[in-house]
Amino acid sequence: MGLKLRLDSVPDPVPRKSTCQDGELMDLFEYQAKALFAKHDVPTTPGRVADTAEEAEQIAQEIGKSVVVKAQVKVGGRGKAGGVKLADNPADAKAHAEDILGLDIKGHVVKKLLVAEASDIKEEYYISFLLDRANRNYLAMCSVEGGMEIEEVAKNSPDRLARINIDPTEGVDEAKAREIAAAGHLPEEVLDSAAKTIAKLYEVFVKEDTTLVEVNPLVRTPDDQILALDGKVTLDENAEFRQESIAEFADAGSTDPLELKAKENDLNYVKLDGEVGIIGNGAGLVMSTLDVVAYAGEKHKGVKPANFLDIGGGASAEVMAAGLDVILGDDQVKSVFVNVFGGITACDAVANGIVKALEILGDEATKPLVVRLDGNNVEEGRRILEEANHPIVTQSATMDEGADKAAELAAK
Ligand SMILES: Nc1ncnc2c1ncn2[C@@H]1O[C@H](COP(=O)(O)OP(=O)(O)OP(=O)(O)O)[C@@H](O)[C@H]1O
Ligand SMILES: [Mg+2]
Repeated sequence: MGLKLRLDSVPDPVPRKSTCQDGELMDLFEYQAKALFAKHDVPTTPGRVADTAEEAEQIAQEIGKSVVVKAQVKVGGRGKAGGVKLADNPADAKAHAEDILGLDIKGHVVKKLLVAEASDIKEEYYISFLLDRANRNYLAMCSVEGGMEIEEVAKNSPDRLARINIDPTEGVDEAKAREIAAAGHLPEEVLDSAAKTIAKLYEVFVKEDTTLVEVNPLVRTPDDQILALDGKVTLDENAEFRQESIAEFADAGSTDPLELKAKENDLNYVKLDGEVGIIGNGAGLVMSTLDVVAYAGEKHKGVKPANFLDIGGGASAEVMAAGLDVILGDDQVKSVFVNVFGGITACDAVANGIVKALEILGDEATKPLVVRLDGNNVEEGRRILEEANHPIVTQSATMDEGADKAAELAAK
């Protein structure tokens, strides 16, 4: 979602996806964000989510007014990509839905739509609350120049995007919210109503355990109502124990099926854009493997890591099979590099895990697999793999050599 761009000049931009072991960040779809907004009475226009063009038509029919049909993808710039369209009647809504469903927006294919009542818009503003890690503080950003060009505002006239530090122990009441709105140069006439909405958005930010709440546009209607017409929320999954909504949102359909599969198996998996699948044990080792593969890839047509997958301490056959299954299921993957350092789970157990995993996967395991084992019981581990002599497996003695081999195979 346009966030990274928008936060370019924030001291330490909040990563949209963390790779830390315990708990991650979860971006929500707009319709999910708006469900949280509704819980805290943030004013917006009514709407519902649709999976098909017929449903979109039906919802437009029920709303009985002009609607906006909006692509639900977790990436910014939907409007500019043709993913947000106004419709005067249900037939138009259906036609737009047909165009937008299946649309590829920056690599995200649209599978769901939000059909919401269209609002009359007099002005578009920008407001966000976020966790400012570098300053160990919360930060509010606000601008009278919201809408689809906010990235340009942030870049070309940063003084138009106000940044207000928020002391978490004091929070944001309506008075503070009014200050934020005024700092963003919102017009005097709407400061009171904007303050009400902004204070409610802060409530969402804190009570829902988020690290980001962003509304762009926050609109002013001709009768000076202030509505949140868009919503971007990132949840902190560390709060799962006290936030039922986190599990609910994670289950909601169109998240990446591979990420869901990984999650079901308690694997720490992050999809990236490259071609070399990576499996390792321990976040530190996996991260350095990413670096080494990216470096090796420079010599092999610029191939890059395809993912981050940490199978954790106990690399049992089942865990290894689940990990391989996830990675081989990614069409972009051309080769896989398994980089494991045997510790409590020794290399022979890992090797047995790989052999059994390949048995479990059978014909599904077709892509070349480069394995580098080191650490506890390494000789026995290497012997087991040699003896199994699986046609797709190549062993490497070192991490650099393995990365180079995997990159070479991916570039073929
Ligand atoms: N309910 C609505 N009624 C009227 N116009 C709307 C409505 N929702 C959105 N729009 C218009 O469409 C534009 C784009 O919508 P939105 O902000 O939701 O998507 P986006 O900004 O392109 O996506 P993102 O914020 O993810 O980059 C808004 O700036 C607004 O002008
Ligand atoms: Mg927007």
